[in-house]
Amino acid sequence: MTKAEPRLLSLERINQLAAEPRYCSRMQPEHPVDAERPWVPENYTQLYFTPLYRSLSDTQRLRYNQLFALRINEYIMMLESDLIDALLPPLLQSPALRNDAALAQAVRTMVEEEHQHCAGFAALNRLCRPDLYPAGQDRYFSQLPAASRMLFGIVGSLSRHYAFALWYLMAMEESSKSLARDMTRQPETETLGRLDAGFMSVHVQHLKDEARHLHIDQHLITRCIPRNKERLNAWLFTRMLGGVLHISRKGSGVRVIHQLVRDCPELASKQEELIQAVLALKGNRQFVHSLFNRHIMPHTFHMFDQVDAFSRLGERMAGYDRQTS
Ligand SMILES: [Fe+2]
Ligand SMILES: [Fe+2]
Repeated sequence: MTKAEPRLLSLERINQLAAEPRYCSRMQPEHPVDAERPWVPENYTQLYFTPLYRSLSDTQRLRYNQLFALRINEYIMMLESDLIDALLPPLLQSPALRNDAALAQAVRTMVEEEHQHCAGFAALNRLCRPDLYPAGQDRYFSQLPAASRMLFGIVGSLSRHYAFALWYLMAMEESSKSLARDMTRQPETETLGRLDAGFMSVHVQHLKDEARHLHIDQHLITRCIPRNKERLNAWLFTRMLGGVLHISRKGSGVRVIHQLVRDCPELASKQEELIQAVLALKGNRQFVHSLFNRHIMPHTFHMFDQVDAFSRLGERMAGYDRQTS
């Protein structure tokens, strides 16, 4: 067994762990959130990958870091409500799950937990910036564009026969788990001092449920993406990647820049330059590599390695370094 190969928990064990409070996420900050500290590692933000980042003052970089951290929370919420709600309820009706009580129970628990995570991240964002998240408004940077709504609608309508989005879900769950891991392993940031313990504590709590979810994802993929449908699922998956990785002027990354300029008006003359730098990230290999790589998603990549139809996935996903034995 290679180091990256996951030891898959049985469904019975997963369901037992989900019933044990000490293995479950409690999505409240364990300390007050400090607005003088960075909230996420700098290399989890977009501008970090542009030369302009170093030209910002410490105060401007700190504010950008915090705004982008709120956007990361929103992105996790989008996956855990919009994608999960489109994908998993139809799968619960599929023959693969209807005949497997343990898997169906694990999935139902997972859906409930994701709703709690969304509420927890929404509350954290509101605590951090009540002016951006008034009561009843949980999304500020990532109001789901029509194209993404349509994409998730397609994912849901196809999922009983083509559950390709499970691969994407697993990749994203593993990357949110890795964010929490990287925060605890390396709390000192490159230029902004130590990460805030309060903001970090919610992500560390989130990791508890996500560690189980990764195992559920693997059970689901094994049941719902049979070998004889892998080729078409793989094709659909690579098409989906193009849609979700798209960076546009109306996207959440540019909205963060607009808010940065509102918070730091002295940057107004630089706004267009900052937006162009974000838009140029599409062609930035280092940035694209940071989104999908074996460091942040070892188990997902190991699973990709087993799929023959992903032999050329690296052409679509820059960070995928295929390893077969
Ligand atoms: Fe979650
Ligand atoms: Fe999850």
